[in-house]
Amino acid sequence: MTTKVLEHLLTMNDLSAEDLKELIEEAVQMKHQQKNGVPHPHLQGKTLGMIFEKSSTRTRVSFEVGMTQLGGHALFLNSNDMQLGRGESIDDTAKVLSRYVDGIMIRTFDHQIVEEFAAGSSVPIINGLTDQHHPTQVLADLMTIYEQKGRWEGLKLAFTGDGNNNMTHSLIQGALLSGMKMSVASPEGFEPAESIWKEAVDKYGEERLQFYADPCEAVKGADVIVTDVWTSMGNEEETAERLQLFRPYQVNEELVKHARDDFMFLHCLPAHREEEVTAAVIDGPHSYVFDEAENRLHAQKALLKKLIK
Ligand code: CP
Ligand code: NVA
Repeated sequence: MTTKVLEHLLTMNDLSAEDLKELIEEAVQMKHQQKNGVPHPHLQGKTLGMIFEKSSTRTRVSFEVGMTQLGGHALFLNSNDMQLGRGESIDDTAKVLSRYVDGIMIRTFDHQIVEEFAAGSSVPIINGLTDQHHPTQVLADLMTIYEQKGRWEGLKLAFTGDGNNNMTHSLIQGALLSGMKMSVASPEGFEPAESIWKEAVDKYGEERLQFYADPCEAVKGADVIVTDVWTSMGNEEETAERLQLFRPYQVNEELVKHARDDFMFLHCLPAHREEEVTAAVIDGPHSYVFDEAENRLHAQKALLKKLIK
């Protein structure tokens, strides 16, 4: 059997179970080195280009700081300030940037844009969030679960809220890849994309991935509860309608009673307290959201080390 070499990270499906395990073990080790002041300059002289078409706090800062800690450099590129924003093609932009930088991270709208970048680029492309996927966030989520629970195998992760967004899709691919079971609860019309759901069920079996209209059913016996904003970037005009529709899917003290006593709560942030999650839960003893945010740094450093040559 030949092992596929990891070239780009566009979705969690680009990773094998071995890649995932290797990345998280490396991330745990680099976290330990960084906390103990042990230098780990694996990317000296290397540059990461970071193209942003949407806002960001965590992704931008964690990639930039990560490259600095690895001895390299990161370049923030707002697409509006680039010729890309004036209509230069994705293919030409990818080819030109490939002549300067050693890797490119992109945060954009349609997932097809990162696929086009990857097709045109001769350096690794990292998806820093598209409308459909957010794989680098899910690497941090899986690292946080691994740190707290010591394993993934056999755990149940429940997601309640907008099933048709980037976080849900990457969690479906990542949670199942890691060995966890997953359940999703979303209102009608906001179910996960059929292609992603079907692919996961075909690969891992129906017993590993379950859908419920009722969030209490989805959360029953869960080890990890995850939610995300009800209105993702790009959906702002639907905010009022979403506030109404998603209300029954809020993670609150009543809902979490259905989970295991030692459940963990995760949210990629930014969060809206009293919308998708109550303050009692996100600021309570089961919440690991700030470890999760910190782990973006460590997990991405492991990813950068693996991808950039
Ligand atoms: N979780 C996440 O991607 O955060 P930012 O939008 O701040 O990068
Ligand atoms: N689903 C959210 C994630 C933000 C990090 C969004 O796309 O806005």
